[in-house]
Amino acid sequence: MNKDKKISLTDAYAVETPDDSIQLYKDWADSYDEDFIAAKGYVGYLNAARYFLDQEDRPPGPVLDVGCGTGVVGISLRDGGIAVVDGIDISQAMLDQARDKKTQNGALAYTHLIQADLTETIAIKSNTYAGIVSAGTFTHGHLGPESLDELWRVAAPGAVCSIAINAAHFDSQGFASKLSDDVKRNVVTEPDINIADTYTHKLNDVDDEDNQSMIVVCRVV
Ligand SMILES: C[S@@+](CC[C@H](N)C(=O)[O-])C[C@H]1O[C@@H](n2cnc3c(N)ncnc32)[C@H](O)[C@@H]1O
Repeated sequence: MNKDKKISLTDAYAVETPDDSIQLYKDWADSYDEDFIAAKGYVGYLNAARYFLDQEDRPPGPVLDVGCGTGVVGISLRDGGIAVVDGIDISQAMLDQARDKKTQNGALAYTHLIQADLTETIAIKSNTYAGIVSAGTFTHGHLGPESLDELWRVAAPGAVCSIAINAAHFDSQGFASKLSDDVKRNVVTEPDINIADTYTHKLNDVDDEDNQSMIVVCRVV
């Protein structure tokens, strides 16, 4: 991609494979916070973190930020009182941005940053995390419902999950039926599904449903 061209949501939604993601975010990592988060008024990460933090009876322990990108979910969780947050992402360029992110108190946001493709089995032991949070990653060409199985696996029994899913994808890509199956299989509890605006102002360059996220809040059984 031409380095001088600004990356847009259209480019992000054109991603089809993990390799496409690596390439896109390699070019976007340096400017993502400014050109996307600030310029578009992206607040999806705040929603996912808030729904997680609002679960007052959540168990103590480390939390995994799935598709952590440049690290804005991690900062929100740490500033909200979570002591240990690990981040996982396929893009080393995005992880390099997350590595420098700090809390309001000047501590590093993340304890461990893990480079891995979440469409495959990841090198994390089962039952490791007391919480799973994700924003902006279950979207066009990124992660589909099948990747949820690895999240359920690395989460310990009772772990709280707060996973933002692009609303345009929720039914059409099979998230609703996957969650329903996983409840029936007794893998996760019946989720609360909360609709939230992903941006402070409606974006006109994407479909209406792309402006919203379904924040899935459930527990791993
Ligand atoms: C739109 S960014 C969201 C980043 C951050 N969570 C936020 O809310 O700003 C999507 C992230 O998903 C990551 N990603 C895409 N495909 C992935 C995969 N197969 N495995 C792991 N991470 C992936 C990208 O590298 C990127 O950092």
